[in-house]
Amino acid sequence: MHLLPALLLSLLGLVSSHAQYPDICIAKPKDIPLNPMCIYRKEVVEVEEQQEKEDSPPEKIPENTNPRVWELSKANSRFAMDLFKIVADSKTDVENLFMSPLSISQAFTMAKLGACDNTLKQLMEVFHFDQVSEKASDQIHFFFAKLNCRLYRKANKSSELVSTNRLFGEKSLTFNETYQEISEAVYGAKLWPLNFKEKAEASREIINNWVSNKTEKKITDVIPEGAITEDTILVLVNVIYFKGLWKSKFDALNTEKAEFHIPGRTESCVVPTMYQESKFRYGSYQDDAVQVLELPYKGDDISMVLVLPFEDTSLETVEQTVTLDKFSDWLNNLQEIQLSVHLPRFKIEDEFSVKDKLEKLGLVDLFDPQTARLPGIVSSGRSDLYVSDAFHKAFLEVNEEGSEATATTALLLVGRSFGPRRVTFRANRPFLVFIREVGINAIIFMGRVSNPGCN
Ligand SMILES: *[C@@H]1O[C@H](CO)[C@@H](O)[C@H](O)[C@H]1NC(C)=O
Ligand SMILES: *[C@@H]1O[C@H](CO)[C@@H](O)[C@H](O)[C@H]1NC(C)=O
Ligand SMILES: *[C@@H]1O[C@H](CO)[C@@H](O)[C@H](O)[C@H]1NC(C)=O
Repeated sequence: MHLLPALLLSLLGLVSSHAQYPDICIAKPKDIPLNPMCIYRKEVVEVEEQQEKEDSPPEKIPENTNPRVWELSKANSRFAMDLFKIVADSKTDVENLFMSPLSISQAFTMAKLGACDNTLKQLMEVFHFDQVSEKASDQIHFFFAKLNCRLYRKANKSSELVSTNRLFGEKSLTFNETYQEISEAVYGAKLWPLNFKEKAEASREIINNWVSNKTEKKITDVIPEGAITEDTILVLVNVIYFKGLWKSKFDALNTEKAEFHIPGRTESCVVPTMYQESKFRYGSYQDDAVQVLELPYKGDDISMVLVLPFEDTSLETVEQTVTLDKFSDWLNNLQEIQLSVHLPRFKIEDEFSVKDKLEKLGLVDLFDPQTARLPGIVSSGRSDLYVSDAFHKAFLEVNEEGSEATATTALLLVGRSFGPRRVTFRANRPFLVFIREVGINAIIFMGRVSNPGCN
C-alpha cells in the first residue's frame, strides 16, 4: 500500500532570511507573530443564516481536538468535496481519479499568506477558510500548522504519512522576510533559490527531482515541460506521502482473477481481486444506495473508506449527491460486523492542472496577471505577481500488504460468519475511495476507481 501526490504552484514575481521560533507543534499563537500583510473579515452574517445555525444541533468536537483545528479540518473537507465534483465532471465515467485535496489546500495556504484584497477574499471563500470562526480566520496558518502536527506527528505511528513543503524562488529577487519567516515557522517551507531567469529548464529538473526524492520516486515530472519560464519567480510545492499497512491484511493466496464491470464496456475486464473475511466497520444505506466499508491501517489512526453504489445505481449519481454531511453521516453510522470483502488489487495515477478547476470554483483573481494581489510575497510589495499554474499529481497503490506479523490477522474467521445472512462487500464495479484521519475525519486523499487496470 503506497500513495502520494504532489502539488505545485508556480508563481510569477519573491524572500531570504530567517528567525528562530519555537516548535510550532507546542507553540501558542502569541509565540509566533503571524502578521500576514492583509487580513480578511467576513461580512456580517445575515440574521436568517444565524437562525439556521442555532436550530441545528451543535456538532460534537472530537476528543482532544482544538475547536479551531476541527473547524479548519472541516473546511478542508468541504473544499475536497467541491473540488472532487469539478474534477469528476471533467473526466469521463470510465476514467480513474485520484487526488489529495489536503495537499492542494496546503499549497494555496502558502500563497494566501501573501495575498490581499479580492485575491485574499476568494482564497478564503473557495477553500472555506471563511467558515472558521472570525478571529481564527486571521490565524488560519497557525491552525493549519497545528492540524499538520496532528496528522503528521503521531507519537506511535505505524503508517507513514509525511507532508513536506518547499518554496523555490528566483535567486535574483528579494523575498519579503516576514513571508519567509512565517512560512518557515508554520510550514517548514524553506526557500531554495534557483536561477529561473537563465536556467528555467534546469530549475524545473531540480524541483522535479526534489519531489521525486520525497516520494520514493513514485511522483516524477510533476512540473511539465515548458511550465517554468524565465518569468517564473516562485514555485510553491507541497508533497504528501503515505504508506500504510492494513491492520488486517489480505492473504495473497486468496487473490484470484475476477470480473470487474466497467459501465458501457463490451470487452470483459478481469483483474486480480483480493479477498478476506474479517470484522470491519460497515454500513449499507438504502436511501443513498451505497455500501460503505472502512478498512483501517495499522495504528487505527488512518483508514481507507470505500463507497460502493448498489448494483443498479451508477457511481455518477452517488458522486453528484455526496456532500460532507452525508459522508460524515455514513461514517457515523457504520457498525462493526463480520463480512467478506472482495477488492481489486490496483494502482492508479492521476495528474491534472488544478488551475481551471479552481477557477470554476471562483478562485479567479489569483491566476490573472491583471487582478492578482500578492504584495506580501516579494519585498517592496511588487504588484505584478500572479500564479501561473498549479499542478497536482497523485498515485495510489493498493495490494494485500499489511502486517508482516501474523498478529494483526487475528481477526479471522468466526464460525457464526458462515450463517446464511453473511454480508458481502464485492467491489466489482466502480467505487469511491477515501483515505482519512479517523479522529477528526480529515480527508487526506480521495478518488474513484473506475478501471482497476484493464486496457
Ligand atoms: C507506543 O508504543 C509502545 C510500545 O508498543 C507503548 O509501550 C507505548 O505506550 C505507546 N505510546 C503511546 C503514546 O501510545
Ligand atoms: C535525495 O535524498 C537523499 C537522501 O535523503 C539525498 O542524499 C539526496 O541528495 C537527495 N537528492 C536530491 C536531488 O534532492
Ligand atoms: C513584508 O511583509 C510585511 C507584512 O507581512 C510588511 O509589513 C512589510 O512591510 C513587508 N516588507 C517589505 C520589505 O516589503
